[in-house]
Amino acid sequence: MALILAIESSCDDTSVALMQDRRLLAMKTGGQAEHARYGGVVPEIASRAHQEWLASLCKGLMDEHGLAWDALDAIAYTRGPGLLGSLMVGASLAKGLALALNKPLIGVNHLHAHLVSPAVERPQMDDFPMLTLTVSGGHTHLVWMNSWLDWELLAETLDDAAGEAFDKCAKMLGLGYPGGPVLDAKAQGGNPQAYSWPKPKLGIESYSFSGIKTSVLYFLQKHKPDLRDVPDSALPDLCASLQHALVDMLVQPMKAQAQARRPRSLALAGGVACNSRLRSEGLALGEALGIPVYIPAPTYCTDNAAMVAFAATLLLEQGLIAPGALVERPLARWPLRLYAEDLRSLNHGSVPGS
Ligand code: KG4
Ligand code: ZN
Repeated sequence: MALILAIESSCDDTSVALMQDRRLLAMKTGGQAEHARYGGVVPEIASRAHQEWLASLCKGLMDEHGLAWDALDAIAYTRGPGLLGSLMVGASLAKGLALALNKPLIGVNHLHAHLVSPAVERPQMDDFPMLTLTVSGGHTHLVWMNSWLDWELLAETLDDAAGEAFDKCAKMLGLGYPGGPVLDAKAQGGNPQAYSWPKPKLGIESYSFSGIKTSVLYFLQKHKPDLRDVPDSALPDLCASLQHALVDMLVQPMKAQAQARRPRSLALAGGVACNSRLRSEGLALGEALGIPVYIPAPTYCTDNAAMVAFAATLLLEQGLIAPGALVERPLARWPLRLYAEDLRSLNHGSVPGS
């Protein structure tokens, strides 16, 4: 029985979770609303807020469960990728706890945590190979999962991430930040065919979202020279058609890869997996292929410590604990490709779990 305390502080969500073996006992997440008035995440504000909240969130979690610190078997934290200042706050607390309690420290890759997030609510799920689309504010990855610890990256974005595209389009439409959820809400009832937006002609190994952003800008410059007040009446059709285009760009490569490779299941993960259209298109694809589709509840799609705890649990199960974890530095960049190699070297050169 391994009890893990996990800390997530890679961007602007402060989240902590307790996991016993693969079972989530509790999670506390605090979003940071103050970034909205700046139109994006302000790194300095984010790291200060983590500093203010993290320790008390951890203590609250332990107290509510009547747990002594000594009951913990390991401390996990998001080592990267993310905002360096934010990562450092989580890393410092995690290292302090691990050192004081003399327990193993596990530095988790945030992208891997998103990849395993569909398992938080179904800990024993084992439908591999699984084709997973992880889409967040910073990343867009289509991944072939042979197991939770062994994967192949099939496609990634050449420029903006999908969430960034949602947020930037929403910002231009005057919907605030983060605009993805607002754009989704405004799209309800709109006509997805009302406007057509250009889609890049790429193979199934790349995504690109910068073109659609520029098209929205040109469209608004032409129709609304001051770029400000897009009338409320125009928003549903604009949002629905943009959402339609963005989701289509995400789903088409997934569909093509699924038809060619025949996975046993599909999964969606990351903040953009909260999107209502992406969720329904994902489910429809699974139905057409006759395979299950795993989509986490929205709380486990956006940044959360439960997925960090699950990723750490998998590493602990396999004994993949980095010997020098206490002196590892947080990593602002830590691509999935490099992390796959890191895991192999921790496993003495072989694929972990095999
Ligand atoms: O995974 P996440 O919480 O943080 C990162 O690791 O980036 O993802 C945040 C992203 C933001 O871009 C946000 O706008 C987007 O997820 N998002 C959505 C929706 N909910 C969150 N995008 C489209 N539709 C939504 N319903
Ligand atoms: Zn994330």
